[in-house]
Amino acid sequence: MTALPSPRRRTLLAAPLAAATACGAPADTDSTRTTDSDASGSSGDKSRPVPRTQPGIATAQPAHVLLLAHDLSPARPSVRDVRRVLSDWWTDHASRPVPGVTPTVALGPALHRKLGLTAPPRLKDLPSFPHDRLEPRHGGGDVLVQLCGPSAAACDRAAARIAARATGVLVPRWRQPGFLPPRPTGETPRNLFGFKDGTQNPTTDELTRWIWHDDGSTFLVYRRIHMHTDTFTTLPTTHQEQIIGRHRTTGAPLGAHHEHDPVNLYAKTPQGRYHIPTDAHIRLAHSRLDGGARMLRRGYSYDNNTHDHGLLFLAYLRDPALFTRVQERLAADDAMNPFIEHRASAVAHVLPAPPPGKPLGDQLH
Ligand code: HEM
Repeated sequence: MTALPSPRRRTLLAAPLAAATACGAPADTDSTRTTDSDASGSSGDKSRPVPRTQPGIATAQPAHVLLLAHDLSPARPSVRDVRRVLSDWWTDHASRPVPGVTPTVALGPALHRKLGLTAPPRLKDLPSFPHDRLEPRHGGGDVLVQLCGPSAAACDRAAARIAARATGVLVPRWRQPGFLPPRPTGETPRNLFGFKDGTQNPTTDELTRWIWHDDGSTFLVYRRIHMHTDTFTTLPTTHQEQIIGRHRTTGAPLGAHHEHDPVNLYAKTPQGRYHIPTDAHIRLAHSRLDGGARMLRRGYSYDNNTHDHGLLFLAYLRDPALFTRVQERLAADDAMNPFIEHRASAVAHVLPAPPPGKPLGDQLH
């Protein structure tokens, strides 16, 4: 029997088709760009200067991450103090890097207010979502640093340097290590449910359009998502695959054969059911429902103790409002919901890399 989507789901299914028809083109081509600043990417014009971007975003994902969040010290440091710390971090890393470790620095929504500066307009606290079980002490923060490196020890060494340079200006708020399981070079990593995670990410060309602003800045959304791996992984494989919308072994979308085959949201089985169910994770998260707008997911697994492991969801995107739209759909309908719990959250503005010879932090004014 045909699986009939609920009225709300019918809207979701119909929306991209309507957009495509109205414009006479698929929803993810230039001609469908809307005037909505949330959904519009930059032009991808090849004559534009290449944005100066921080490393650790579009660069390959090393096996370990350490996330560090700081608050301004209660001693009420000045803008100059904060600039000095950012600049020291940048020059320190340039002159004597911890081998293989890449720092990426981002500023949280409250920092500008505390310093009396104007925050980028898109930098706002995320709303709360249904089912959130957030632990505020383990989220938020004025200054975030993502350290990616070849080992936990290397990330720890880099973190010690970061802390030493921040003394008196920033105080630690939370830290969170993460890892990727070993995998053959070039293969998409698997998450703790055993599924390939990161398949449908923007290509290098798409990054210019959807991730970077012209000045090389972007935004980071972080969610620590607990995963009930015991319950999920004991489901029959086909059930797991219906929840995700992809095959577990190959990573191919349901109804297709290879990992990078296109996701066809409209394909049906001979019995008239959607191959990718109406509540499957990849259907609800699909960019067609956002006028083609993309995010770059750069997640890591985490294992804090026997009771808490899951996904460090790290997404880079031009506007955190895209995350909000996707997460609203997921929180409402995702078949994965009974198996996950969002426990920590942060959002931050990722500064552009400074011009050669200039320190990071000059942009803070
Ligand atoms: C523990 C929580 C989560 C798990 C285990 C998970 C897992 C997956 C998997 C296995 C895929 C398919 C492979 C791929 O394209 O990477 C996927 C796709 C995706 N996920 Fe998640 N995800 C989680 C949370 C989220 C959240 C919170 C968001 C954003 C709000 C999100 C956004 C996406 C997007 C945009 C895609 C690509 C969809 C497409 O266009 O095909 N995911 N996720």
